Amino acid sequence: MTSPADVPAVPDVLSPGRLGPVTLRNRIIKAATYEGLSHRGRVTQDLIDFHVAYARGGVGMTTVAYLAVDRDGRTDRHQVLWTDEAGPGLRALTDAVHAEGAAVSAQIGHGGPVAEARGNKAPALAPSARVNVIAMNRAKEASVADLQRIVAAHGRAAARAVEAGFDAVEVHLGHNYLASAFLSPKLNHRDDEYGGSLRKRARLAREIMQAVRDAVGDRIAIVAKMNMDDGAPGGFWLDEAIPVAQWLEADGTLDALEMTAGSSLLNPMYLFKGDVPLEEFAGVMPQPIKAGVGLIGHRLLKSYPYYDGYLLEDARQVRAAVTLPMILLGGVTDRAVMDVAMADGFGFVAMARALLREPDLVNRLQAEPAHRSLCIHCNKCMPTNYTGTRCVLVDRRTTRSATWGKPEGYAPTAPAVPTSAEWDTSHPVT
Ligand SMILES: Cc1cc2nc3c(=O)[nH]c(=O)nc-3n(C[C@H](O)[C@H](O)[C@H](O)COP(=O)(O)O)c2cc1C
Ligand code: SF4
Repeated sequence: MTSPADVPAVPDVLSPGRLGPVTLRNRIIKAATYEGLSHRGRVTQDLIDFHVAYARGGVGMTTVAYLAVDRDGRTDRHQVLWTDEAGPGLRALTDAVHAEGAAVSAQIGHGGPVAEARGNKAPALAPSARVNVIAMNRAKEASVADLQRIVAAHGRAAARAVEAGFDAVEVHLGHNYLASAFLSPKLNHRDDEYGGSLRKRARLAREIMQAVRDAVGDRIAIVAKMNMDDGAPGGFWLDEAIPVAQWLEADGTLDALEMTAGSSLLNPMYLFKGDVPLEEFAGVMPQPIKAGVGLIGHRLLKSYPYYDGYLLEDARQVRAAVTLPMILLGGVTDRAVMDVAMADGFGFVAMARALLREPDLVNRLQAEPAHRSLCIHCNKCMPTNYTGTRCVLVDRRTTRSATWGKPEGYAPTAPAVPTSAEWDTSHPVT
């Protein structure tokens, strides 16, 4: 017979949680939402302000998205790159978040077939050559030398994240970015050591995670954001995600695992559920793409019904197969879902849209546990990452700094950051 003392207590989501070597002040993480606020590979004051808002609003950790490990992995040519020039800006960002009591994670990865080939002036890389309608590129088959370079670049990026003061790195193994495209039998038709069986398709993801662990040891936490399924027929599904999660756990390269879903390449709305903001997407596209979105956009961007905690059922199956701490993502908006996640053994929850809508949501939940999120899943924030990611229901003037200033600590030689009026809008969706 078990006594009450034998039953592990369910932690309060607002209590501190241990993530590898780091203790977060609570178990709520701001999920990666590409900010569209960096410029020419560097941090801007707006990017710092963006993350300070979530830190001030009470999250345990905020995630800076998405920092490509190499130039050809960028999904936006303005994305922060792990260069010497970016270092002081990144340090200013981590210092500013820490000053508000929160931890800060860097999402690193390689865009692969989702990368912006034109802006990068380099072909997008994929497991197998293909034309990508949504990413508007023709991806080239990555050579083994490309893969070795990219694996090593993940290690270097992670080491730079430690130098810049990040508490964690979150490695992007989802959304059919490069590592996730290799996992997918729909996108990976190789017959070398990186294609074919699940073990071979998982090889790149495992090598990347090993390079990251080798580079950082246990100085900061290592999280992987991995697909449970691509949401595309013939793609990667949960039955394959579970063994991959177990291999990653056995490799000892992870401190926590966050399960995601969908494909920026094949089915972008599958992750989000809710409304399809077709008009808003068309609005940020140049002609003739704008006309094309109007004509066939509804076929490329399918709609799925939204409900709170929509990834919970599948994530529970991964939860049952590993002992690693896990982060629940997808439609986490209020205490009810958070409490279920804690009761189900998830160590943390991650929120994207609910926090875009209310950056101080965690403080609100602390004061008023029954508070319900004001996010209406309209997804109109998605196309705003071309011009500075935001909830369209929030007055922009209250969330952005008035000028595009240099963050404190910027190298004096850094070129001036442009004013928002000079901002160019050629950013793709992440
Ligand atoms: C505007 C926007 C930008 C996003 N950018 C990223 C990104 O850069 N990297 C990533 O892994 N996920 C990105 N996501 C997905 C979120 O991290 C999250 O997985 C998804 O929104 C589901 O969580 P939610 O229901 O809490 O919004 C983005 C989401 C939104 C709304
Ligand atoms: S635009 Fe605002 S309300 Fe709509 S989904 Fe995004 S965060 Fe939620």
